[in-house]
Amino acid sequence: MNLSGRWVVITGASSGFGAAAALAFGRVGCHVVLGARRVERLEAVAKAAREAGAASAHPFLLDVASTSSVEAFTALLRAVTPRVDVLINNAGGAHGLDPVAIGRDEDWEAMVQSNFLGVLRVTRALLPMLPHHDGAWILNVGSIAGHVAYEGGAAYCGVKAGERSITQALRLELNGTGIRVGSIDPGMAETEFSDVRFKGDTARAAKVYAGVEPLHGEDVAEAMLWMASRPAHVCIDEMIIKPTDQAAIHKVYRRG
Ligand SMILES: NC(=O)c1ccc[n+]([C@@H]2O[C@H](COP(=O)([O-])OP(=O)(O)OC[C@H]3O[C@@H](n4cnc5c(N)ncnc54)[C@H](OP(=O)(O)O)[C@@H]3O)[C@@H](O)[C@H]2O)c1
Repeated sequence: MNLSGRWVVITGASSGFGAAAALAFGRVGCHVVLGARRVERLEAVAKAAREAGAASAHPFLLDVASTSSVEAFTALLRAVTPRVDVLINNAGGAHGLDPVAIGRDEDWEAMVQSNFLGVLRVTRALLPMLPHHDGAWILNVGSIAGHVAYEGGAAYCGVKAGERSITQALRLELNGTGIRVGSIDPGMAETEFSDVRFKGDTARAAKVYAGVEPLHGEDVAEAMLWMASRPAHVCIDEMIIKPTDQAAIHKVYRRG
C-alpha cells in the first residue's frame, strides 16, 4: 500500500522508536503528527521529518497520562486533518527495576498511566477519525516483556501484557470496519528507555547494552513501516523483533 499523503499519528515521538518512526514515515511522504511532553524535542523531530520528505509534520504537546491532554491534542489534530490513517500508540516505558517487595507506587502508577491507560485514551479519542475500509491501522508498541515476565519487571511486564489484551480486544471490536489492529513487540533496543527506567543513571543504563549489539530505533521504525504498508486486506497481528544477540528475554550474548 502506498502511504504517500496518508496521515500518521505517533505518540511518544520525541525520542527512540517514535522519533525514528516520524522520519521513516516522513521519508515515504506521509503527513506526521507527533505527540509527547517534551515539545522542543518534538519540534526538532518534526523539522527532521520535513527535511526527510514528510508532506507535513505537526509537533503537538501530549501527555497520554491525562485525559484532558489527550482531548487538547485531539483538538489540535482535528484542526489540521479530519482523518488519521495510521495511529502508532508508542508512548510509554519502564520506571524502576525494583522487585515487588520494595516497589514504589509512583513508578507503578506511571507505567499503568502511560503504557496501558494511555493507549486506551488515545485510541478512544482518535477512533472516530480512522476511515473504514481504506487500510487504516492502529499499531500498539508492546514488548517481549508482555510475553515473558522477569524479576523486577512485575509492573512493566504486567502493563505490556495488558496492552496485548487491548490490542486483541480492539481487533475483535473493529472486525468488519476494515481498520487493522496489530502490535510490534521489541526486545532490547538502545533508546532512552533505560535512562528513563534508571532515572537518569546513565552508567547503569549503559550496562544494559554492554557487549551487545541491540536494536536501534530505525530497526523498529522500518518494521512499523513495513507493517503499515501491507495491502489493506493484510493485517500483521503481532510482530516480535529482537536483536540477534538476544535469544530470549534472559539469554543475551555479550562480547568480551
Ligand atoms: N527500548 C526498549 O528496549 C523497548 C523494548 C520494548 C518495548 N519498548 C517500548 O517502546 C516504546 C518507546 O520506547 P523507546 O524505547 O523509544 O523509549 P524512549 O526513547 O524513552 O521513548 C519513549 C517516548 O515515550 C514518550 N512518553 C513517555 N511517557 C509519556 C506520556 N505520559 N505522554 C506522552 N509521551 C510519553 C516520551 O516522550 P516525553 O518524555 O517527551 O513525553 C518518549 O518520546 C515504549 O512503549 C516502550 O515501553 C521499548
